[in-house]
Amino acid sequence: MAKIIGGLGTSHIPAIGGAIHRGAQQEPYWKPFFDGFPPIREWLGQVKPDVMVMFYNDHGLNFFLDKMPTFAVGAAPQYVNSDEGWGIPSLEPLRGELDLSWQIINHLIDKEFDVTTCQEMLVDHACSLPLKLFYPEGNYPVTVVPVCINTVQFPLPKASRVYALGKAVGEAVAAWDSSKKVAFVASGGLSHQLDGERAGFINKTFDLQFMESLLSNPEWATQYSIHELVEKTGTQGVELLAWLAMRAALTVGESSGVRKVHSNYHIPISNTATGLLALEKF
Ligand code: DHB
Ligand code: FE
Repeated sequence: MAKIIGGLGTSHIPAIGGAIHRGAQQEPYWKPFFDGFPPIREWLGQVKPDVMVMFYNDHGLNFFLDKMPTFAVGAAPQYVNSDEGWGIPSLEPLRGELDLSWQIINHLIDKEFDVTTCQEMLVDHACSLPLKLFYPEGNYPVTVVPVCINTVQFPLPKASRVYALGKAVGEAVAAWDSSKKVAFVASGGLSHQLDGERAGFINKTFDLQFMESLLSNPEWATQYSIHELVEKTGTQGVELLAWLAMRAALTVGESSGVRKVHSNYHIPISNTATGLLALEKF
């Protein structure tokens, strides 16, 4: 059976790609953000995952407002980055893990999650940046399964539903007949609002409580409705749903326990409170 190693959560912001491209990582504005990553890379170098199952949200690139699945799972041999173009001019496609994609899709449908299956799928900064941050040298040593959660067009899935989805994805991975090592990734958040009267809204108290809850009380955020989460984290802060799915996926198996490998929190990058967290499953 496949081995679940742990989970990673990181914010995604197109400007990060621009900073990587310009080599600006050590500039005062960027340094507190990029300095979070070396311990994560060291851990990844030790545990060496083969596959990353990536919980993320599309931003109107592969799914636009005319067709917006609540949950979609990639089942493609590769995922081409077609981002809006602020960032890194050329990025290698992410390599898919077809067998695991279908394992996850079949299990989710069996568990009554009516997901959209995507045998072709473009990805944006939400998928491409985490890999670039974890493996800056390129030539990613992992394949991926993208699991897209709608956080952009109402109605959004409830936090409790996202938690249940994450758990079901974890079950599917735990039951995968493979000797490969799998890590879960959450891409998004933490608090931010890009437009409207509250543009620039950030809630450090809530963010830190949320990050802590993933260690001590993983279901904590499911007490909130989507409107409450928008109120507390901003219209784009609801991207933190991906973190909830990642943590839920780690609850399967003999033990639901995790140990914190490393975390970082820095405000702001662009309009966003950036969070970073690595959890090792034991
Ligand atoms: C920003 C944050 C996001 O999550 C995103 O998808 C795009 C932009 C920002 O803060 O600029
Ligand atoms: Fe985003």
